[in-house]
Amino acid sequence: MEKPFFQITTEGQFQDATERAIFNPELYWEDIAKTFRWRKRWTDIQSGNLTDVNVKWFEDATLNITENCIDRHAETHPDKTAIVWEPNNPDDTVKKFSYAELRSEVNKMSNVLKACGVEKGDRVCLYLPMIPEACFAMLACARIGAVHSVVFAGFSANALRDRIKDAKAKMVITSDGLIRGGKKLLLRNIVSDALEGCDSVETVLTIKHTGDNVQTNHLDKWYHELKENASAQFEAVEMSAEDPLFILYTSGSTGAPKGVVHTCGGYMVYAEYSFRNVFQPENDDVFWCTADVGWITGHTYITYGPLLAGVTNVMFEGVPTYPDCGRFWAVCEKHKVNQFYTAPTAIRALMAAGDDYPKNYKLDSLKVIGSVGEPINEEAWKWYWKYVGKERCPIVDTWWQTETGGIMISNLGILGEQRPTFAGRPLPGIHPVLLDPEGNEKEQTEDTIEGLLAIKQPWPSMIRTTWGNHGRCRAVYFTPFLGYYFTGDGAKRTKEGMFRIIGRVDDVINVSGHRLGTAEIENAINEHDKVIESAVVGYSHDIKGQGVFAFAICEPGTNSEGLSEEISEKVIDMIGKIAKPDHVLIVEALPKTRSGKIMRRILRKIANGEHDNLGDTSTLLDPNAVEAILAAIKD
Ligand code: WTA
Repeated sequence: MEKPFFQITTEGQFQDATERAIFNPELYWEDIAKTFRWRKRWTDIQSGNLTDVNVKWFEDATLNITENCIDRHAETHPDKTAIVWEPNNPDDTVKKFSYAELRSEVNKMSNVLKACGVEKGDRVCLYLPMIPEACFAMLACARIGAVHSVVFAGFSANALRDRIKDAKAKMVITSDGLIRGGKKLLLRNIVSDALEGCDSVETVLTIKHTGDNVQTNHLDKWYHELKENASAQFEAVEMSAEDPLFILYTSGSTGAPKGVVHTCGGYMVYAEYSFRNVFQPENDDVFWCTADVGWITGHTYITYGPLLAGVTNVMFEGVPTYPDCGRFWAVCEKHKVNQFYTAPTAIRALMAAGDDYPKNYKLDSLKVIGSVGEPINEEAWKWYWKYVGKERCPIVDTWWQTETGGIMISNLGILGEQRPTFAGRPLPGIHPVLLDPEGNEKEQTEDTIEGLLAIKQPWPSMIRTTWGNHGRCRAVYFTPFLGYYFTGDGAKRTKEGMFRIIGRVDDVINVSGHRLGTAEIENAINEHDKVIESAVVGYSHDIKGQGVFAFAICEPGTNSEGLSEEISEKVIDMIGKIAKPDHVLIVEALPKTRSGKIMRRILRKIANGEHDNLGDTSTLLDPNAVEAILAAIKD
């Protein structure tokens, strides 16, 4: 496929694109949008604004995103490999699907979904391992106009149930089992537990993967049986650009996870735009993103971005450490990966395993290596640069969020200064600013300034709403600073315009690149019948970036033996293993202000081991609480 004009390869083009996007953002995005396949073009490029939280892009246009991910490539280069699937076990068979095969797989699944009664606008929940069918299912939903809601298969039955209920999903697509490293999970059985009280679900469509015996009931249909007679032809359903494409649940500082909604047209445009510019794919390149499809990275840079760009895309079922810590590099060598995209937590874990692993593999196919999900520390950055990129490949440290839909701040391949811990400049068309707490834009009065990161202009893949509750979307992202999208992150900016992301300024913690709300974990802990109150904070963790530290007050007279483990189990049960506290400390009291607010600042310092530097504790309701906590830690 020809490289479209919007793939910027020189600094001059970068400057020019940035200026054009500032001068006339609508025309800038319209030119890019024109390179896609639409059923009907728009008359209005963009309407609405951030203040009114009613932004729309290409509103009266129609399209089907899968015609852009699949058909336009299947027509021009049907035999090109679209997906290379690398199984968990390196000795098992690799599966490859050409763009023509991808089209027939997705068409078959679309026909199966249709036969099960799924229609345009229905929600379909996907709870799946990293198998090709996960991509097919997302694309099949998109092809028939159903809204997919992928739930990471590490979430517990309770967490899955909440998400099924919130979206009122009509169908759940799962598999019998999942294998990752040496571990197996019977997903279909977890779905059984989750389904209690989920009245909306009419069908559970199960994909046979591990071959295990699982509990099924009257709602069940086996995919391989229905697929046998399914036609490989399916006419994609015409969608409005602003119809929802998917819901993805994500954690925030308050309440239950919210369903971030992305729409068909704008998301499509930005997914390919950002993919091409950040990773700079050439025609025959092989791209590999190691994320799970359960997160936004797996949506935009496994399923949608690479397929929109028509590249060859590696999908990996396993984990970086199985069968040993050389697996990522073995896969890069085996499939001659050109662009590799992973998370700092994986880099740190592999760095800890030693330099020999990457040295033992031929990594000369690599051109660009990327990082996402949390700030990458300097040590990990340098190791990645030296041992993986061989001081030859640019590192793209990509800052973005579930809500932004695609990468917002990053170097573009070799464009931009390679500076550890700096994500770089915003992509042309993206206008981030730093605000002070009153909401004033900060001027560049010094070489480096710091503030709250907000975005000042609509972009095509921005969050449109939170599912079923637009007020929440408004309150969380658009009310803190009127006229801006507020990211929840703090950042620095240099006079050259480079951004360095510092991290969350709210009560969200980032464990191994997974966003977790402290309130959500506290709610889970409070479900334990002996717990009266709890507080959760993040602390600095060598591998995971942040770890979870929980403080819990229990009923007087509670036998504390085994209590911490029980509390951890409760969190696993309510949310999943990813949220398991690293420490649970049973305490007598929590430090509170006179108005009863927990002083997390103090708890954070305690959790980080800064016991001698707790700051001002004089405003505490009960200053002895801190002493008691410190004594409990020492025990
Ligand atoms: C953090 C993941 C520093 C940030 C795509 C953000 C980062 C949150 C980076 C979003 C980065 C993501 N450098 N921090 N390159 N990328 N973050 O929604 O705090 O799972 O707000 O999206 O991850 O997490 P989410």
